[in-house]
Amino acid sequence: MTNKLTNSTDSRDRATQTVFAYHERTKHHLKRFAASLGYLDWDRQPIPFRRFEGAPQLPLAEIPPTASPTYDDLFSGQLPSPQPITRQTISQFFYDSLALSAWKAVPGSRWSLRVNPSSGNLHPTEGYLISGPIDGLFDDACVCHYAPFEHALEVRRRAARDTWPFPNDCFFVALTSIHWRESWKYGERAYRYCQHDAGHAIAAIAIAARVLGWRCHVLESWSDDDIARLTGTDQQSGIEAEHPDCLIAVSAALGAIPHVRPENFDTISHVPLAGIPNRLSHDHHEWPVIEDVAAAANKPRIAEIAPMETSVTNYTGGLARSVSARQIIRQRRSAVAMDGHTEIGREEFLRILRRVMPQQSIVPFDSWPWKPSVHLALFVHRVRDMKRGLYLLARDATRVDWLKLELSNTFSWTPIVDDVDVLPLFLLREGDFGRTSNLVSCHQEIAQDGAFAAAMLAEFEAPIRDCGPWFYRRIFWETGMIGQVLYLEAEAAGVRSTGIGCFFDDAMHEVLGISNRSLQSLYHFTVGGPLEDARLQTLPAYSHLSRKGP
Ligand SMILES: Cc1cc2nc3c(=O)[nH]c(=O)nc-3n(C[C@H](O)[C@H](O)[C@H](O)COP(=O)(O)O)c2cc1C
Repeated sequence: MTNKLTNSTDSRDRATQTVFAYHERTKHHLKRFAASLGYLDWDRQPIPFRRFEGAPQLPLAEIPPTASPTYDDLFSGQLPSPQPITRQTISQFFYDSLALSAWKAVPGSRWSLRVNPSSGNLHPTEGYLISGPIDGLFDDACVCHYAPFEHALEVRRRAARDTWPFPNDCFFVALTSIHWRESWKYGERAYRYCQHDAGHAIAAIAIAARVLGWRCHVLESWSDDDIARLTGTDQQSGIEAEHPDCLIAVSAALGAIPHVRPENFDTISHVPLAGIPNRLSHDHHEWPVIEDVAAAANKPRIAEIAPMETSVTNYTGGLARSVSARQIIRQRRSAVAMDGHTEIGREEFLRILRRVMPQQSIVPFDSWPWKPSVHLALFVHRVRDMKRGLYLLARDATRVDWLKLELSNTFSWTPIVDDVDVLPLFLLREGDFGRTSNLVSCHQEIAQDGAFAAAMLAEFEAPIRDCGPWFYRRIFWETGMIGQVLYLEAEAAGVRSTGIGCFFDDAMHEVLGISNRSLQSLYHFTVGGPLEDARLQTLPAYSHLSRKGP
C-alpha cells in the first residue's frame, strides 16, 4: 500500500517537473526564441478543417444576428428566458461560438476567420455536441463533431433515445485540440497556444449559450480518458490525433445543471464510430516535447466541483448600449496594427476591467469552477484621465497582500477607485511604458500603439503543485477566457484588440520584479484603435455554401 502511494506520488512529481521543464524551455528570451523550425514549411501546412470522411452530415442553419439581447444585457444579472433546444437554437449556438465569421481575400489567396480567435489563425480546437433527441435534428442520442467550414454536424455515434439518461433541456459540448495544427508553425511553444485557444473557445461557448438564456458549467470530475472515450478520439493516434480538453454541460433549464458521470454515457461510448478522420498534412515534423508535456498534463478523474458563486449579479457598468450581443460576437476581429493615437475614456477602461473580474462579470466566468489564478499587469498608454504607467488588477481581492509580497518592493500600489475590494486596481509605477510593452511583446508595435496592453500574470507553481500537473492547462484556459472577454469588450467600446502569444517571458517578469515561479506571465493582450489593411477584401462567412436560410 505504502509503496503504491509512493509510486503514484513519484510519478505525479515527475509529471509536475515535466510540465515546469516544458514551460521553462518554451520561454522566448530576448536573445533566443523557443525552438521552432524558424520558417514556414508550406509543403506540410495542415488543412485547417478536421472532417470525418463518411460520417453523415446534418447541415445547420445560418441565423443572422438579432437586435436583442444587447451586448450589455449579457451582463445584466438576469438570464434571458431559456430558449428550447432545437435545430434552430443549436444552429445559432454554434454559429455564435465556433463557426466561420468571415473570409479575407487578396488577389490569389483567401482564408477563413472564425468567431473564436486562434494563434496564427491555425485553429487547433475541435468541438463536439453530445445530446439526446433534438427537435429538427435527430430523434435519438448522438455524438457529433462540429464542422465549421460546412456549419454542420458530423454524426459519429448514434444510440437509441432510451439510452439517454438526461432530460431534454440539457446537452454537452466537448473540446479537443490537434496540437500539430499549431506546432506546424510554432514548434515547441505551440502546446501553450493550443491551451489559450481552448480557453477562448470555452468562453465563446459560454457567451453564445448565454445569448440563448442557457448556462454552461465546465465538468471537472471527468478525466481526459473519459472525454476521449465519449468523443471517440481515443481511437485516433499519431501526431494528428485530437487530445481531449474538457466537457461542458449546457443547460436550458432554470434549475441546477445535472450531475453527470462518465458511466451515464456507457452505452453511447460503445457505439462504433462513423467516419474516418481526414489527413491534415502528408508529412510532419515531430516535436517530442509536446508529446511529453501532453502526457504529463493528462488529467485524471477528480471529485466534482460546484460552479463558482458570483457575488455581484448585476454589473452593467451603468451602461445600456443598444448594440446587439450577437453582432459583437460575430464581428470580433483581431487588430493587425494599432493606430498609436486612439484614446479610450477612464470609465470605459474601468468597465472593461470590471468585466474580467470573475465575481462580477457573470459570463463566461460562471461556467468556470476554479477560483481565479490570473491577474493583469497593465501598461496604460492612452486612457483619458488616467496616468500613463504600469498598473495591476488583482482578479481576486483576497490575493492583493500576497501579490504585494511577490512583486517588486519598489511599487507604489496606489488604489485607483474607492471601493478597492470591488475593483482591486493599483498604479504600480507612473511613466511611459510604450517601449517596454513593445519590447516584452517580441518587439510587436501593436503592444505599444494601443490604448493599453495587458500581461496576464498567473499564480503558477502553487496551484499546479496543489491540483496536479494537468492544472497547467487550466491556467492557460483561464487566460484565454479573459482574452475572449477583452476581445468582445473592445468591439463593444468601438475599438479592437489582439491576443499576443509571442512575448519574452522573463523580460516581462523582470519588469515586475518576479524572480521565481510563484507568478508567471502567460499571455499578453493589446486594446486600442485599429489600423485597417485596405488591401484585404472581406467576404461573408458562408458564401461558399450553396444552401441558404434555415
Ligand atoms: C493565443 C493567441 C495568440 C496570439 N498571438 C498573436 C501575436 O503574438 N501577435 C499578433 O499580431 N496576433 C496574435 N494573435 C491574433 C491571431 O493572429 C488572430 O486571432 C488570428 O489571426 C485570427 O484572426 P481573428 O482573431 O481576427 O479571428 C493571437 C491570437 C491568439 C488567440
